[in-house]
Parts: sequence; C-alpha cells; structure tokens
Amino acid sequence: MSVNPDVKSRPKTTVILAMTADGKIADSQKTSARFGSDADKAHLEAQIALVDGVIFGAGTLRAYGSSLPITNPNLLQQRQECIKPLQPIHIVVSASGNLNYQDRFFQQPIPRWLLSTEQGAIPWRDHQGFVKVIIGELLSSSNSFDWRAILPRFKQLGIDKLAVLGGGELVASLFSLDLIDELWLTVCPIILGGKNAPTPVEGMGFRQSQGRKLKLLEVKQIAQEIFLHYQIVRPFNSFKL
Ligand SMILES: NC(=O)c1ccc[n+]([C@@H]2O[C@H](COP(=O)([O-])OP(=O)(O)OC[C@H]3O[C@@H](n4cnc5c(N)ncnc54)[C@H](OP(=O)(O)O)[C@@H]3O)[C@@H](O)[C@H]2O)c1
Repeated sequence: MSVNPDVKSRPKTTVILAMTADGKIADSQKTSARFGSDADKAHLEAQIALVDGVIFGAGTLRAYGSSLPITNPNLLQQRQECIKPLQPIHIVVSASGNLNYQDRFFQQPIPRWLLSTEQGAIPWRDHQGFVKVIIGELLSSSNSFDWRAILPRFKQLGIDKLAVLGGGELVASLFSLDLIDELWLTVCPIILGGKNAPTPVEGMGFRQSQGRKLKLLEVKQIAQEIFLHYQIVRPFNSFKL
C-alpha cells in the first residue's frame, strides 16, 4: 500500500453533506436526499464555487441522476475574477463503470471525469460522456481505491481543492485513510430513521479509540437548519478517552 501523501502533494479535501437530525443522509431506500432547504442548496453551491473539483460515488449519481452546476451569477463572476474555469470538474467514482448514460448528468454543462478500474473504464474509453477517464488501483484489503496514490494524481492534474459530496461509502474510504481535512454538515429538521438508511460515514466504522477527532471551526443557523463546519484534528490517534 502507498504511504499517506504529504498534505501539500494532494488536494485539500472538504466533505459537504446534509444530514437529518437523526444522522441519516438519505432514507433506507437510498433515494436522492431532498430534505435540505434552498439555503442549504445555496450553501452547497457556494462551497462548490471554492474548489477545482468535486467528487462523488456512483451510488450518489445513481440516486440523483445529476450533479449541481454553479448557476449563481455572483459565484460565477467570482470564479471568473480568480481566473478559474466557470465550473469545477465533476469526478464520478465507480469501480464497476456501471453508469447510465441516459442520466441528466451527461447533458449538464460541466466537465466530467471518471475514476474507474481497467475493467470498469472499458465502455467509457473514448466515450463523449467523460473528458477524462482515470484508472485507479483497488486495495486488496478493502476493494476500495488506493486514494493515497490517486489524490496526488488529481493534484498533478490541477486540482488543489476538492469537495467530497458523498455518499457515505466514498466518505468512509477517505476517512479510513485519514485523507479528509474539513467537513461541512448541515443538520436538517427531519427524522428518517431506519437501520439501512445511510449515514455520512459508512464502511466498517472506527473503534472509539480510533475515532476521528474534530475541531469546530464555525456554526451558523439559517431558519431551521444548523450549518456545522469542522476541521479534522491530526494525528487522529491522539484521541484520549
Ligand atoms: N444528504 C446528502 O448530502 C447526500 C449527499 C450524497 C449522497 N447522498 C445519498 O447517499 C446515497 C448514496 O450513497 P452510497 O452509499 O451508494 O455511496 P456512494 O459513495 O455515493 O456510492 C457507492 C459506489 O461508488 C463507488 N465507490 C465509492 N467509493 C469507492 C471507493 N472508495 N472505491 C471504489 N468504488 C467506490 C462504487 O461504485 P460502483 O458500484 O460503480 O463500483 C460504490 O458502489 C444516496 O441515497 C444519496 O441520496 C446524500
């Protein structure tokens, strides 16, 4: 397995998720999460406007069928003034490559990249759906992409800041390798329950002694929602009970 890349040799990573008051990011049918308010959507768009790339798992694309382009004229102008492309790159993570080209995502005016395996990439090579297809290795221990090798490649391709938009499986794989720097969680006034409903961090979970420790940077309340901004404290194993 590769060693953890120095923070400077990989993109800065920020997870952005909306969560119910009982800690779910979707219902147990794993449908698209539509419980956030317009303020939450504006918050997500503002965060997306700060980055060079956004990344999400294939499960998230299958649930929504689309991604969120920047449409707010002020945010577009800010990007123009910073001489950034108007839209960040939207990177889909899919080991299987099993994606539906009929999804609206493939018609949206955004640059699209795919991260897949040799096998999963076959139908998408030279396909107009993606401007770039990146082949990554899976770790035999977890059958998950080797982010320690992949994130530095993103950095070499010009991605200095990366927003991680879910779902819980992708977020867990990055947390497990200690590759998340910040986290924005919007707590929404709804309860969904259900033991199969996904949470912000899925995967195997951490023992309490290995739990990732957070520092609260910011709290905002807008109407009924709370916006929590955390930094991940390193080294994570300094957590003492
Ligand atoms: N509330 C929110 O803010 C929010 C945000 C995003 C998503 N969601 C919800 O989350 C649910 C979808 O989540 P999900 O659990 O399906 O997770 P996901 O991470 O979106 O998708 C999982 C799939 O993505 C690929 N993938 C993700 N991480 C990988 C890794 N490390 N290595 C290899 N492949 C990886 C695999 O695709 P292949 O199967 O193609 O190999 C995997 O099956 C939906 O219900 C959606 O509504 C909520």
